[in-house]
Amino acid sequence: MITKLSRRDFLFFSALGSLVYPFGRNALAVDTHPAILYPNTISILKQAFKSEMIAHKHYVGYTQRAKVEKYPNIAYMFKAFSISEKIHADNYSRLLDKLGKKTIYIPLLINVDDTKSNLTNATQKELEKIKITYPLFLKKIETERCDDAIKNLMYSWKSHRQHEKKIKKIHKYTAYFFGSVVKEIEGMSLDMHVCEVCGSTIDEAPVLPCDICNRALSHYRKIDRPT
Ligand SMILES: [Fe+2]
Ligand SMILES: [Fe+2]
Repeated sequence: MITKLSRRDFLFFSALGSLVYPFGRNALAVDTHPAILYPNTISILKQAFKSEMIAHKHYVGYTQRAKVEKYPNIAYMFKAFSISEKIHADNYSRLLDKLGKKTIYIPLLINVDDTKSNLTNATQKELEKIKITYPLFLKKIETERCDDAIKNLMYSWKSHRQHEKKIKKIHKYTAYFFGSVVKEIEGMSLDMHVCEVCGSTIDEAPVLPCDICNRALSHYRKIDRPT
């Protein structure tokens, strides 16, 4: 009797097991695969990577142009921004790698104008990212709760706010007084530093931990002037 019951129990639990794991243990592995768990997150990270690489390339071009036009401080600021954007792109690339996806950057045409127009374009782009792109990215991934992705998107979003603040200050008067504004900027003493963790960009030597990622100030890297 005991043997019969045990056999029935065995068959019952075997049947139950096949209902819970209809394809055996491999089904569990498939269910927890990042592509299944984080489809929106992966898609947004790819878009964010591309957007940051485009921004990085633009700032590299803007740096060169400002240098040629003999605006060394504006070139210096653009160089710091280009490094910050690259940090954002690298963060996304690393994260995608962890989620089993490789990033491929397809080179795109970059539009570099004169410095006055580049300042206008940079302000518009940074503003668009702060107001539209990043809030939308964050909204689209919120239900999947991939903490690393949310953290990195927040880093980029906050860094762009820093960039926009700085460019806006310059851009505000450039439409009418470009010459005098530039003169003032070029007379300023800048010591650009970028946080290697989050891309935070400041124009003087850090004295406090990073105000975006809270990491120690040793994570700030001094940016050399463009040569
Ligand atoms: Fe960025
Ligand atoms: Fe930071």
